[in-house]
Amino acid sequence: MEYYVDTAEIDKIKKIINWLPLDGVTMNPSLVAKSNRKVFETLSELLALTKGAVHVQVMGQDRDNIIKEADKLSSLNKDRIYVKIPVSKEGLAAIKDIDTDKVNVTATAVFTVSQAITASKAGAKYVAPYFSRVNKIEQSGLILIKDIQFSLNNYNYDTKVLAASVKNAYDVKELYKLGVDAITVPPEIYEQAHQHSLTAQAIEIFNEDWLRVFEDLNIDSDFQV
Ligand code: G3P
Repeated sequence: MEYYVDTAEIDKIKKIINWLPLDGVTMNPSLVAKSNRKVFETLSELLALTKGAVHVQVMGQDRDNIIKEADKLSSLNKDRIYVKIPVSKEGLAAIKDIDTDKVNVTATAVFTVSQAITASKAGAKYVAPYFSRVNKIEQSGLILIKDIQFSLNNYNYDTKVLAASVKNAYDVKELYKLGVDAITVPPEIYEQAHQHSLTAQAIEIFNEDWLRVFEDLNIDSDFQV
């Protein structure tokens, strides 16, 4: 299971890498706009700050401009940059013609099994289905992801499934149970999924019990290594 944080806000990324075994960062144009910062500035800072992959979306609307932007983004770090390309016809045309041995591609805004299979056949290393946006239209994001995984396995494609648009801790749990390859989740949802008041309460009780006998909250202040 790979963990990605879905944000372009460096401060939030700095906080989360302190405690979460993060594999990388994803962002989309809405998230970049929300950060109110130029994308290349954010990318250079992120590549220096983190060790993992950075999935970043092109803004070109036609095949040629998508390919041009993909080359430009990938040139920042060929191994760590994954260029997100929405699976429109122009997007699929670009994925088909990009040398995907040299430029890592993540096919994004995936809503059907057919889009995922075609993007994978064209060379995408990840496909990103939008989990909760599918739920919003009375379909099951979970079933879509399960069907994509099953279909990719049928063809032995090694494209990974990156579940995106994850909205709460319940979604995260369901995606774990499904065994999805990767999830991208906003920082606050990672917090929700990993914090529990009973954990805090258990620690409090341990501390109180300890302090009834010992002076401070150290395992053994007299112990010398
Ligand atoms: O990064 C793409 C995806 O996470 C979009 O999520 O929350 O806008 O549906 P959302």
